[in-house]
Amino acid sequence: MTTTVTTAPARTRRLTGFQPTGQLHLGNLLGALRPLIAAQDTTESIALIADLHAMTMEHDPSSVRRLTLDQATVMLAAGVDPERTPIVVQSQIREHTELHYLLECVAAHGEAARMIQFKEKSAGGGPIRLSLLTYPVLMAADILLYDTTQVPVGEDQNQHLELARTLATRFNTRYGETFTVPEGVRPDSAARVMDLAEPTMKMGKSTGTGRIALLDPPEAIRRTIARAATDRAGLVRRDRENQPGVTNLIDILAELTGRQPADPTSYSALKREVTDAIEALLTPIRARHAELSANPDFVRGVLAAGAAKVRPIAAATVGRARSGIGLLD
Ligand code: ADP
Ligand code: TRP
Repeated sequence: MTTTVTTAPARTRRLTGFQPTGQLHLGNLLGALRPLIAAQDTTESIALIADLHAMTMEHDPSSVRRLTLDQATVMLAAGVDPERTPIVVQSQIREHTELHYLLECVAAHGEAARMIQFKEKSAGGGPIRLSLLTYPVLMAADILLYDTTQVPVGEDQNQHLELARTLATRFNTRYGETFTVPEGVRPDSAARVMDLAEPTMKMGKSTGTGRIALLDPPEAIRRTIARAATDRAGLVRRDRENQPGVTNLIDILAELTGRQPADPTSYSALKREVTDAIEALLTPIRARHAELSANPDFVRGVLAAGAAKVRPIAAATVGRARSGIGLLD
């Protein structure tokens, strides 16, 4: 007689983090939000607004508060369904900071100090916030708190994810099985959108001048695309090395419409096509954002519900960590 052993598929929980340091832009939408929204039917996700991270550099308190609420509003407007994907503000779950401290007790100073992002961000001179050094440990806490199995990460966050995995494994070895060790994933459809003015750099909230914020008015979008860097080759073709600007425009068009530029075409025709595609994408998001902005209490309610939903998971994890590491109940 043969026995078949069937193992239940492992539960998947994904955590995507956003820093409220600026307006969400086309890169965030195509690289992070759309994959999150597309996976809502099949994958449990948490969308985390990492407001504590926004304080690791010089910050303006009122703009962090405003951007936190606004990012949540944009997420809803873009199609995040809070019933399936809780939107969570990091600072509203106290366990993030508690677990941060406990993880600092298994992290070494040298591990934090060698993070590339720390070196880059601290290179400019002037006072460096201690929280900038310890921020990857807080990010590890964000991830481990929710028994996250998958973390969508861009290259710049790989090292931080590795640290989270190292700390989880070390804690488990020293103090008993406590944390799920997460994997980094690249969602199937994730695109990497480059800055339109400086197409060798990724579009970012605070870098570059060729950024399309999701709430930019149509004239601003038209202008940004009209000014997008191209080249003198005059050929509409993908060649990331020699024609990064044109390649970026082609990739954005393909991501939005699933098609290649009309052929034969010119740079100005390509830009027109991209402008139309972005307009078609963003017009409904802007309209929905305007509706939601008229009702900030609704958005705050969504955040409160998101927090209520994930808090028990966070409390259970911190409970395990506290007892493993030697704290009284
Ligand atoms: P930013 O770099 O704009 O500050 P975050 O670091 O807050 O953005 O990242 C939020 C999410 O958006 C991450 O999942 C990140 O990989 C994704 N993301 C950010 N910029 C881009 C981009 N230019 N193209 C694709 N995805 C991006
Ligand atoms: N540090 C991430 C970034 O700069 C944002 C972030 C904060 C994050 N907490 C996270 C990402 C947890 C993934 C998981 O992009």
